[in-house]
Amino acid sequence: MAETAKLIIDGKELEFPIIEGTENEKAIDISKLRAETGYITIDPGYKNTGSTQSAITYLDGEEGILRYRGYSIEELADKADFLGVSYLLIYGELPTEEQYDDFVGKITTHTMVNEDVRKIFDGFPVNAHPMGVMSSLVSAMSGFYPDSYNDKMPDNTDTHIIRLLAKLPTIAAWCLKNSKGHPLNYPKNKLDYCSNLLQMMFAMPVEDYEVNPVVAKALNKLLILHAEHEQNCSTSTVRLVGSSKANIYSSISAGISALWGPLHGGANQEVIEMLEEIKADGGDSQKYIDKAKDKNDPFRLMGFGHRVYKNFDPRAKIIKVACDEVLEALGIDDPVLDIARQLEEAALKDEYFVKRNLYPNVDFYSGIIYRALGIPVNMFTVMFAIGRLPGWIAQWKELRENNEPIGRPRQIYTGATAREFVPIEKR
Ligand code: SDX
Repeated sequence: MAETAKLIIDGKELEFPIIEGTENEKAIDISKLRAETGYITIDPGYKNTGSTQSAITYLDGEEGILRYRGYSIEELADKADFLGVSYLLIYGELPTEEQYDDFVGKITTHTMVNEDVRKIFDGFPVNAHPMGVMSSLVSAMSGFYPDSYNDKMPDNTDTHIIRLLAKLPTIAAWCLKNSKGHPLNYPKNKLDYCSNLLQMMFAMPVEDYEVNPVVAKALNKLLILHAEHEQNCSTSTVRLVGSSKANIYSSISAGISALWGPLHGGANQEVIEMLEEIKADGGDSQKYIDKAKDKNDPFRLMGFGHRVYKNFDPRAKIIKVACDEVLEALGIDDPVLDIARQLEEAALKDEYFVKRNLYPNVDFYSGIIYRALGIPVNMFTVMFAIGRLPGWIAQWKELRENNEPIGRPRQIYTGATAREFVPIEKR
């Protein structure tokens, strides 16, 4: 007998089915609630509400577990490369050697961006934030590939997936170069994905550019750690836009915009700016811990807290170790790293943070590594977007293949009740 949940409303007892996932997570299926009771549920921020059933990522916020298609983030970060993880997320299995070579080969031959895209760059002010530029350019890509418009699952979805994975690094690097007034670099097909991104971002025509293998390896790990995270804000945005059968470029562009927010992917930029502010203010971590606790002070400890992780964010643990390794390998002594460590130590002992299960999240240490890799602060969230792209694609593809209904939440109306129109002379 399938498990059910009983609800008594207006003296009437109703039963709703309970569904259970492969990791024993349970949900009450309320899809018939309004039809049977006239009631809806309300849950600001969807803290208790599931939007879908998905086979892509499992995370356990209490235990600090994160798995992509069943593989632990620890193993993938240590043993896989970003394109292999992208294939796993999008197609559900780790690629065979032949599948991997075919996938990487296709991506390599799609890294060039239509030269007309360069003209769009010219329309942006030099100091435009690269997240806004990138979101616009990804949406503009739909114009270059109009066969992505049709509202059936386009047969060539795989080609659009390849184009996005291949061209986003080029577009991202062009955003950086354009903002500096430097000549744009073209991809070099002999380089691997991360090395190619680095050379497009940092190579200058006046001298040879050698990719530092330590930097490329660290970037590969960071992109894997950012690749997917189930129904977070930006992924839910991609799904909602995709649920109207909008094309993949428009859906991903919407995800980039959602990720930009300082409470979401934009936090990695906010963390470094916060650490720099603390350093400039004399390095008094406790002062900022107290500000974060003060309800009258809008200041939040950026990079701390998480909607789901009520224990350590497993990604933060891995990035923290990588931080030490990368800075040591590059011979960098970054004073804000000490401030970050002091903040973490103080917060993890403080009742306010302990009671609210506020731990460092993926954004707390990532900015320190990005900066050590030479990446400018306003490009940190762009790096997050490059990492998250395969996750967005995988979730969009799953939604479309499962023919999920258009997303359209309900509401409770709290405005004026019915009233007659008043002519302007009588108002
Ligand atoms: C990402 O969802 C994902 O998976 C996201 C992500 C992914 O991979 O896609 O993991 C990436 O977005 C990581 C989060 C990056 N954002 C930040 O670091 C910004 C700082 N953190 C927060 O603003 C906050 O913690 C959120 C947005 C991450 C989570 O917010 P919630 O779940 O809505 O929790 P909340 O705001 O209701 O906070 C609960 C309590 C509140 O205090 P009380 O009302 O109970 O007194 O904790 C407090 C908050 O004031 N709180 C903080 C805090 N975060 C929460 N207080 C101080 N500093 C903070 N950082």
